[in-house]
Amino acid sequence: MASANGPLRKRIDALVASDRLTPDAAQDPAIAALDALLAELAKPRAANKASALGWLFAAKPKTQNIDAPRGLYLYGGVGRGKTMLMDEAFALAAGLPRAQTRRRAHFHAFMADIHNRIHAWRQDETKSGDPIPHVAESVAQEAQLLAFDEFAVTDAADAMILARLFTELFARGVTVIATSNVAPDNLYANGLNRSFFVPFIALIKERMVVLELASPTDHRMAKVPDGDRYVSGSARFDAVWQMLLGTDEESGIEIRVKGRNITFPRTAGGLLRTDFDTLCRKPLGASDYLAICERFHTLCLEGVPVMEEADRNAAKRFIALIDTLYDTGIGLIVQAEARPAALYMPTHGTEAFEFKRIISRLQEMQASDWGG
Ligand SMILES: Nc1ncnc2c1ncn2[C@@H]1O[C@H](COP(=O)(O)OP(=O)(O)OP(=O)(O)O)[C@@H](O)[C@H]1O
Ligand SMILES: [Mg+2]
Repeated sequence: MASANGPLRKRIDALVASDRLTPDAAQDPAIAALDALLAELAKPRAANKASALGWLFAAKPKTQNIDAPRGLYLYGGVGRGKTMLMDEAFALAAGLPRAQTRRRAHFHAFMADIHNRIHAWRQDETKSGDPIPHVAESVAQEAQLLAFDEFAVTDAADAMILARLFTELFARGVTVIATSNVAPDNLYANGLNRSFFVPFIALIKERMVVLELASPTDHRMAKVPDGDRYVSGSARFDAVWQMLLGTDEESGIEIRVKGRNITFPRTAGGLLRTDFDTLCRKPLGASDYLAICERFHTLCLEGVPVMEEADRNAAKRFIALIDTLYDTGIGLIVQAEARPAALYMPTHGTEAFEFKRIISRLQEMQASDWGG
């Protein structure tokens, strides 16, 4: 049972007391669930033959390790505090008997590592047979506790192996914590060959507590003062970008949609800085915007111009972009030439009509609790 006074509860209360966090009762169930998990990890480790002599049993784990704590799958909208809570719990797990070895990774980076290990196994002429149990064994040897940030499945090669990989990991007593923007049932939605993937969803529900962090507050956006979310000046826009960036380094990233690659030179984790011309004057469409929203949590968009009749195609794309941002709850910071109501000049036509919705959405998205 989770104590009302578990280590994470105490840690969060202390951060609130020192004004580093604001109280958010909607985070309480997640804190309790993580404290329950920490209490499980604090129990002495059960003797586990399969794990101690892992290499012997690597190909065939003899028994399911039913003694392992149930993991936690924490999902919800952007900026709700999932990563923050997971990272705080991960730090508190240091030295606990069942978390003596721990690994925290971005889920995509973890899967890239898994594919590398599978590849290395296949290249090695001394090895034969199914690589997955062996890869799972090596991962389990390195970490009893795995914490995955931004759990998402978009890649068919990942989808095909996840059920088998995680069955093998759980069988070796590995505990998994994950944060995600989607409920397990919505993972790999509409993906290729989804029937191969479906057993993985059942596995998550069996081996992990599934919990939604349904806070009304996007804490990330709450840090940006209302007046700084839609600005005219580049300097002010840049200051917000720097503030969101904090100590993170900017880097370029390529994302792939429908066989095409889009390059974004200025990103950091879930933050994307780009401009109107890149997103709205190139032949991108709703599916590209959706891919962007799946990959990033906050878009800093600069150079939004006043649009005239001649900019109708760009305006169409801008409408699709804002609709997608709105629907997916992504945070938006804008640097524009005019207030939302003065962005589109023509008064007739479909775009003029649709722009009314966009004006209202842009205004709503500037509110600190937008996205809930
Ligand atoms: N209760 C809180 N008070 C103040 N700031 C908070 C609180 N909870 C989280 N934050 C901060 O808000 C920001 C967003 O939180 P976090 O990254 O954990 O969100 P998330 O749910 O993981 O979002 P995403 O789905 O986009 O990854 C972080 O800077 C985090 O430290
Ligand atoms: Mg996160």
